[in-house]
Amino acid sequence: MKPIQPTRTLGRVALMAAAFFCAAALPRPVNAETGTEAWLRYPALSPQAAKSFGRLPPQTVLLGDSVVVKTAQRELVQGVAQMLGRTLRVGTNSSPENSIILGTLTELRALIPALHPPQEPRADGYWLKSAKIHGAECLIVAGATDRGVLYGVFALLSKIARAENMAAADITAVITDMDELQQPYAPIRWVNQWDNLDGRIERGYGGPSIFFADGKVRTDLTRAGQYARLLASIGINGCTINNVNAAPGILEDSFIAQVSRIADVFRLWGVQLSLAVDLGSPKLIGGLDTFDPLDPRVAEWWRKKVDEIYRRIPDFGGFVVKADSEGRLGPSTYGRTHADAANVFARALKPHGGVIFYRAFVYNHHLDWHDLKNDRAKAAYDNFHPLDGAFDDNAIVQIKNGPIDFQVREPASPLFAGLRHTSESIELQITQEYTGQQRQLCFLVLMWKEVLDFDMHVDDVHIDDVHIGGNLADANPTPVKDLVAGRIFHRPVGGFVGVANVGMDANWLGSPLAMANLYGFGRLAWDPNLSAEKIIDEWTRLTFGSDPLVVKTITAMQLNSWHVYESYTGPLGAGTLTNILGNHYDPGPESSEENGWGQWHRADHLGIGMDRTIATGTGFIGQYPPAVQKLYEKLADCPDDLLLFFHHVPYTYVLHSGKTVVQHIYDSHYDGADRARDFISQWKAIEGHVDEERYRDVLARFEYQAAEAIVWRDAICNWIYKLSGVPDGKGRVGSPPSP
Ligand code: GCU
Repeated sequence: MKPIQPTRTLGRVALMAAAFFCAAALPRPVNAETGTEAWLRYPALSPQAAKSFGRLPPQTVLLGDSVVVKTAQRELVQGVAQMLGRTLRVGTNSSPENSIILGTLTELRALIPALHPPQEPRADGYWLKSAKIHGAECLIVAGATDRGVLYGVFALLSKIARAENMAAADITAVITDMDELQQPYAPIRWVNQWDNLDGRIERGYGGPSIFFADGKVRTDLTRAGQYARLLASIGINGCTINNVNAAPGILEDSFIAQVSRIADVFRLWGVQLSLAVDLGSPKLIGGLDTFDPLDPRVAEWWRKKVDEIYRRIPDFGGFVVKADSEGRLGPSTYGRTHADAANVFARALKPHGGVIFYRAFVYNHHLDWHDLKNDRAKAAYDNFHPLDGAFDDNAIVQIKNGPIDFQVREPASPLFAGLRHTSESIELQITQEYTGQQRQLCFLVLMWKEVLDFDMHVDDVHIDDVHIGGNLADANPTPVKDLVAGRIFHRPVGGFVGVANVGMDANWLGSPLAMANLYGFGRLAWDPNLSAEKIIDEWTRLTFGSDPLVVKTITAMQLNSWHVYESYTGPLGAGTLTNILGNHYDPGPESSEENGWGQWHRADHLGIGMDRTIATGTGFIGQYPPAVQKLYEKLADCPDDLLLFFHHVPYTYVLHSGKTVVQHIYDSHYDGADRARDFISQWKAIEGHVDEERYRDVLARFEYQAAEAIVWRDAICNWIYKLSGVPDGKGRVGSPPSP
């Protein structure tokens, strides 16, 4: 873990303070929303839209009695009451006519044998179906599992919430012509929280932990319950509650007893709890003189520890482990492999159905920067590719989307193609560590889609292997090329992990607009074929309502935001130009160089970029399958937006766009700063169309972002000019503006 030392310039602090203090000083507006409900606000529909739901059955019937389906029923009753102003009666399954029937497919079959979906959805999938029972209209929400029932209810409520501007006939069809069969793309759809036991959150920008305070589990877990509800509403089924840089004390028996209270809260929403653990625990807290994963005493210690956890938390999900990375203890202490380490957990967890996420984020942070062949990007593949096939089935290698560390643009990690016989999950970062820390707008779904849709050209991918998700009626059985989206998840387990880091702030992430990233993560984990446009349209309608001006404005701003942020902080795939030794936020391009962290951009007075070619560079490109190597290896073929990730070029090198590298850097920074400033007027256009509280909060953020973009623009342009000596062709940098 790198030290966190804020290093802000005085000017910026003043600007930020002015913007935020202004907002804080204003009285809370009458028309106010804190953002706590996020996309589950369930506001009352207009009387006309509510009337169009007239044929919604007046009662609900529950076929099962698990805690999760009971939650589903409560949620349905609450949502319908708030949105349609109608109280659903709670009936019994002896008279299911005229009802919204909630149950598993098995229960449904027992009740009405003739009614079954055209295809059996996978676990957690659901079927929404209009049907007539004894001539009376019913709406069926049937899940492959209890969780599927809950997800089906959330899907139904989401449709109602987004119906505001729909034609009456279309609304009626939602009730009378419904036939939608959905299944999740991947079994693992988890979030990680990097919460410390003292209540601070590593890389968290939305306030302190909702789970821990002062070294203990909080007494009041209301927020944990609200969070689980939000997670369930987007199909997320697991949450690791503590930092990957794990405190060993989390595994003390007394602490497990406290943690089990969080599991109790999660259980109502079908969210499984898991823990990040320290590989050194048997020695650090267990009284052994070793943590060697191949020592039988160590294996026995883990087995007993896991048994104890399951005694208290019967639906415990498993562990996350960060080992031999950024100073964490690891198997290298004993000359053991990562597979040896992962399997000791896997074997203890297996009898209980638990899984171990073993992070591939393993690299040497004392790399010799003088050696041009050294490359941190190679580390994950170098460490894990040789171990392919050596991991037990319930050990999942958790791989960050790119080979470095959540930068604003990176290529897909070659390790996705490098593990053919190992369960994998992709780790995406929802908390905006390197992408504006929720103080700046950056909708990450577009970035994630680029990685998920990247074609790794692995020729042994077959359609049968691919775990198709989403609406089965829409499933397009054409060959799926995209290895990152397709191949990885057909193994026994695997899927998506998002580093969320929500906190006690009323709006969870610090900014109401940042919640689009949490929503988008869940939707993509369910169905990575969803477009960014569809996701943001859904989120905006649910979060701010369906006023056409609001929807048009916010969706456009969100969809532009990643490119805007990239253009003034990290153009051409240069990697991080931020202060990597400090807060990962301010401009600090010098900090990347001349240290062992390996986030180098190699800028000097002659050129910029990392030479990662096979021919003359670090050889990183050689970790990709041959067709991908071809895409990146030759300078002339390499896409502009990743050029500096793969090649070292002179500042005057001409891009495909026709501009020189240095002119592109100047232009993109000026353009990005202008576009960041434009966010202010775009946002102002919807004043009065959204509630005042969120309006003012977001406006203050955009005013701050506009100033921040200028700080970035000037810092990077001046730095490049100083290094390269090449003036800006438009006279804005390095020479006085022309009269
Ligand atoms: C980044 C982040 C750290 C975190 C690490 C990880 O480097 O800055 O705070 O611990 O990723 O993913 O383990």
